Amino acid sequence: MTHESGTLQPEGVRTMFDRIAPVYDVMNRVMTMGLDRRWRGITARAVVQPGSRVLDACCGTGDLAVACECEGGVVTGLDFSGEMLARARPKSDSIAWIEGDMLALPFADGSFDVVTVGFGVRNVADLRAGLTELRRVLRPGGRMAVLEITQPRGVLKPFFFLWFDRIVPLLGKVLPGGKAYTYLPASVRRFPGAEDLAALIDEVGFDSATFRLFGGSIVALHTATAR
Ligand SMILES: C[S@@+](CC[C@H](N)C(=O)[O-])C[C@H]1O[C@@H](n2cnc3c(N)ncnc32)[C@H](O)[C@@H]1O
Repeated sequence: MTHESGTLQPEGVRTMFDRIAPVYDVMNRVMTMGLDRRWRGITARAVVQPGSRVLDACCGTGDLAVACECEGGVVTGLDFSGEMLARARPKSDSIAWIEGDMLALPFADGSFDVVTVGFGVRNVADLRAGLTELRRVLRPGGRMAVLEITQPRGVLKPFFFLWFDRIVPLLGKVLPGGKAYTYLPASVRRFPGAEDLAALIDEVGFDSATFRLFGGSIVALHTATAR
């Protein structure tokens, strides 16, 4: 869970996602006005080639993993929430769904051609350690894509904070288990802006991380190549 202080407790985060798993997909569609599917498709197409060995870390209910499989990837989805994974499993029989911690991935160095994370790294207790671990399991020359909410900018900024601070928590309250959606604004505020995240990605062993913004600049897709 994210606290006001901005610190994350892994056990709290896991329990929170176990609780919101039944409403997670519906909340995604509502919060993004249906755009999340499109963003996941763009993410998968940016990095996955037919036959790529893909790790989708923090796979949750599996939508990004499935998008990567649609691009021809041979996909492993990993998450530490058993309830989120239970919603992912029926979406594909051919994806290997694994319960595990992104901060201690159960894979050898260089096991994957591609790693993806969708709306996941913001929730990881130690961002640098998480990105370093993703780099470790990627082969040199492999590609990473990180799709994540970012610090809003521009004229739409006040609208986004109204949306995240007021409307999303309210929506969460009317859905069973959705109270946890009050955590979202704090997690966005403590997360680095897009330029800072690109710099951090380079620091942990990638070349020339670049990003593009979606949704009026509230969502960033970072891509980078492992050194
Ligand atoms: C907001 S959901 C994103 C799910 C999915 N990737 C998507 O695009 O909708 C974040 C997920 O990250 C998982 N997560 C957070 N920290 C994790 C960690 N250290 N190891 C594994 N999974 C983690 C949570 O359990 C949750 O399912």
